[in-house]
Amino acid sequence: VEQKIEIAACDRKYWEFVRLLRLNNNVSDGFIEKTNITRHQQESYMKQHSDCFRIALYNNQPAGYIGVINDDIRICTHPSFQRKGVGKFLIEESIKIWPTAFAKIKLSNKASQKLFESCGYEPKFLIYYKK
Ligand SMILES: CC(C)(COP(=O)(O)OP(=O)(O)OC[C@H]1O[C@@H](n2cnc3c(N)ncnc32)[C@H](O)[C@@H]1OP(=O)(O)O)[C@@H](O)C(=O)NCCC(=O)NCCS
Repeated sequence: VEQKIEIAACDRKYWEFVRLLRLNNNVSDGFIEKTNITRHQQESYMKQHSDCFRIALYNNQPAGYIGVINDDIRICTHPSFQRKGVGKFLIEESIKIWPTAFAKIKLSNKASQKLFESCGYEPKFLIYYKK
């Protein structure tokens, strides 16, 4: 069966997908910051920043997103669509638009480190916090 992955603008119809995916318990560990976003907050955030986001459609279904704000990448693939090349596809698309962007990745997030390394990124900094 042929699988089709496409890039889409982050139109209003995807704003709730992005919000719910960001809040999904199975992905939140990957992110540096814990967050709770209301529908209303998402609405005003996306009114300002939707141009900074792209959606991956896997067989026409929203499967993941990437956002690049001040060159800082945030990326997420829905758990039902992970390990199918969606993350890699999103990064490759984002490089065309934001070639100087970078990702801040938790040391514990091996999936994300492997993903970025598979797209030609390498680690440059470690950030130290007081224990
Ligand atoms: C990290 C994340 C975006 C990867 O998305 P994905 O769509 O599953 O990634 P891909 O299918 O494109 O994977 C590409 C490559 O990355 C590596 N990779 C991805 N997920 C991995 C995992 N769980 N463990 C090990 N390697 C992984 C593999 O090398 C993979 O290639 P392969 O499947 O041929 O082995 C996804 O796991 C995710 O959304 N995690 C939660 C949110 C998050 O951590 N975001 C990043 C914050 S910096």
